[in-house]
Amino acid sequence: MTNPFFLTGIIPDAYFCDREKETETIIRHLKNQDNILLTSSRRMGKTQLIRHIFNDTRIKGGYHTFYADIYATTSLREMVFFLSKEIYKELVPKGRKALKMFLTTIKSIAAAFSMDPVTGAPKVSLQLGDITTPELTLEEIFTYLETADVPCIFAIDEFQQISIYPEKNVEALLRTHIQKMNKCHFIFSGSDRHILERMFSSYSKPFYNSAKPVYLGCIERSKYVDFVVDRFGKAGMSIMPDTVGFCYDHFDGYTYYNHKIFHDLFANASPGMTLDRQSVLETVQMILEENSHAYSEIMSSLSITQKQTLIAIAKESPARKPTSGAFVKRNALESPSSTQKALAKLLDVQLVTYGVKDAEKEYSVSDKFFEHWLRATY
Ligand SMILES: Nc1ncnc2c1ncn2[C@@H]1O[C@H](COP(=O)(O)OP(=O)(O)OP(=O)(O)O)[C@@H](O)[C@H]1O
Ligand SMILES: [Mg+2]
Repeated sequence: MTNPFFLTGIIPDAYFCDREKETETIIRHLKNQDNILLTSSRRMGKTQLIRHIFNDTRIKGGYHTFYADIYATTSLREMVFFLSKEIYKELVPKGRKALKMFLTTIKSIAAAFSMDPVTGAPKVSLQLGDITTPELTLEEIFTYLETADVPCIFAIDEFQQISIYPEKNVEALLRTHIQKMNKCHFIFSGSDRHILERMFSSYSKPFYNSAKPVYLGCIERSKYVDFVVDRFGKAGMSIMPDTVGFCYDHFDGYTYYNHKIFHDLFANASPGMTLDRQSVLETVQMILEENSHAYSEIMSSLSITQKQTLIAIAKESPARKPTSGAFVKRNALESPSSTQKALAKLLDVQLVTYGVKDAEKEYSVSDKFFEHWLRATY
């Protein structure tokens, strides 16, 4: 039987939980010719939401949709490489005409794409080294997107990555192109709120005010609880709403962590069983144990101050004012200034993240399982 709690790949609609409001909002903005800035904490469900929207009949029928995750890119050249490959991949199944249009527009790398003279089957040999004039290729890509046979939507996931590219003015360059486009719209997405907000909300930055912000919070508690109870029920297993709610609260409603727990719980259960709190806690324990080695490795790569700061944040999560005298004293840290430095580093490597509540920053460990492991271990 299919495990209804999907952890990888594309989630079929029947196993996709809620996000109805967000789906409607984003589709409305896109139809209204707006670009979107989609942000959330890590692992809340941005990528899956984008895929879900691309699969919606209102979008699927009328647009070419492209999705590129640029997390692994470190230069404009690599980004251009990823975008070109994505467009090609999406167009191949759409037939010769759609593909030909793309290939005749991207002249600077056209040599890497060909069609078998006998069968007409498309072939691609594009390598990073083939992108010798990234700015020109980028311009050609945007020209294609603007003149394609149907309107396009391009989702660029982990968009904050462009801020570390060594080439100067990448933001301004992209913005110049995107500003001129009418037929292609963009979903910029990512979890580094710090960088993305600076990019899109500072008056002095090229992307200022150029996308509608959509912030993705937790899936509503009651909707998630109903979803989980229903899925177990359909498989002939029983779980009380209270038990699901207990897990949801234990992990502050973060989608991935809940989903991973129920995925594993489901995998180890069989029809006729009743799953209770104890079985949830045992599943969590198993997951923490599985990850224990990796967590120890992370700890050993940190300085003593970074380690102590991380542990203190895990214990107080959501931690307020971690660089104040009171926090430092409570957690027996060295000094506010060394804690400040350690915190900056932890944020930089994304081990720690923050949200804003009542105009104040609240810090927590980005990986919720790691946070629980830290609490249990130290
Ligand atoms: N609406 C949903 N219904 C069912 N499962 C979901 C849903 N949204 C997210 N998930 C689960 O949570 C996991 C994380 O989602 P996703 O990868 O979309 O998060 P993300 O915000 O893009 O994370 P990251 O910041 O790491 O890129 C998914 O793999 C899936 O298991
Ligand atoms: Mg993602």
